[in-house]
Amino acid sequence: MPKLEFPEGFLWGAATSSHQVEGGQHNDWSEWEKQNAERLASESVAEMETDMWRGMNKREKDARFAAEASNPKNYLSGMACDQWNRYDEDFDILKHLHLNAYRFSLEWSRVEPEEGIFDEVAIRHYHEMIQFLRNRGIEPFVTLWHWTLPLWLAEKGGIASLDFPECFERYATKIAESFSKEIRFFITLNEPEVAASHAYLLAVFPPQEKSLMKFIHSVRMIISAHRRAYAAIKRIRPEAQIGIAKHQVAFEAKRNTLINSILKAVSDYVWNRWLLNRLRNTQDFIGLNVYNRNVIDNGFMKNDAERITDFGWEFYPEVIYHEAMDLKRYGKPVYVTESGVADITDIMRTEFIPRTLIAVHRAIEDGIDIRGYFYWSLLDNFEWDKGFWPRFGLVHVDFATQQRTIRDSARLYGRIAESNSLEIPENRGSLD
Ligand code: BGC
Repeated sequence: MPKLEFPEGFLWGAATSSHQVEGGQHNDWSEWEKQNAERLASESVAEMETDMWRGMNKREKDARFAAEASNPKNYLSGMACDQWNRYDEDFDILKHLHLNAYRFSLEWSRVEPEEGIFDEVAIRHYHEMIQFLRNRGIEPFVTLWHWTLPLWLAEKGGIASLDFPECFERYATKIAESFSKEIRFFITLNEPEVAASHAYLLAVFPPQEKSLMKFIHSVRMIISAHRRAYAAIKRIRPEAQIGIAKHQVAFEAKRNTLINSILKAVSDYVWNRWLLNRLRNTQDFIGLNVYNRNVIDNGFMKNDAERITDFGWEFYPEVIYHEAMDLKRYGKPVYVTESGVADITDIMRTEFIPRTLIAVHRAIEDGIDIRGYFYWSLLDNFEWDKGFWPRFGLVHVDFATQQRTIRDSARLYGRIAESNSLEIPENRGSLD
């Protein structure tokens, strides 16, 4: 069997975010969940009837997750995976799987529960977590903001507030000072354009306000926040490597028509380039988050998906090749900071991981300096407005008992990480 070797020192990781795994949060999302759980539960059935889901029949949906999705409790993050108290077990799993990197986020609302007042106990807790990782030879990739806000900041208007950049700089400065030696890789912001568009265009994330002006304004605030944080961290720790985690989408015109070309050009610019162009000089690397392609044919999402994941997305692991190649124009090192699949059966995931990694390897061969890969997610976790039912984890979590069970796909991924190479099964070498 042909074997693909990955570059020496390649980082093999898994990713999570604080709100999705830690449990016990007190932030804008935890408050919003309480007010919206009933509504989300009652809307879930109708949502699964939309076009996106046409590739999965009702019997399958019922068998996999419909009961969970229509239960209001599913939409309360509550104790989530209780990683705040169980990080030792989770990090031992990383080690057991031979992973050498872990991406997670610091919960701003824990670190700065009141404006300008930092909680040294929470900071110490994160120190302990990082130390625990380091003792196991696992490199921490630390995200400063993965969507949740302290309540005091949400009250000021959150990412759309004129104060956001200054507040974020103060928080980033505190973190850089407190962790100057322990953190080498910083991700300032996770998918800022997803957060802004879901809050202000689609109005499905808090504060659910439809306003194009606020969307544009919040993206401006985010850009300024990143630049200020970048400068602040570099002042304190010049050798830190700093980037954002950017959600990229492969827009593809199904037919070569004028309208399709225009739609593709505009979406590529607005979604895939606008932010990266603006941050060109303040990123040491690009964090690539990639999940799906969007086929355009007189409109969006015209994918002829033969197979869809539990999330309703097309199953198309090779999308990552196209998205990685598209970053060539920036000439920066790339870390795949999220790539994963929601699949309760683990059958798709077991196929997804090697196919994705073959595509990553091919992008490396074709000139993209990809230095690491983080599977999303280490654990089944709280999937925002969808709640707990979509299962992205390498590790299954029983949310009633908090018991972790390592899935077969995780063991497969672990073997790849351990050998830093991948044997290509005969029929999986192609990239269509
Ligand atoms: C987000 C994650 C989320 C994942 C799957 C990404 O856009 O960064 O927080 O869990 O998508 O939906």
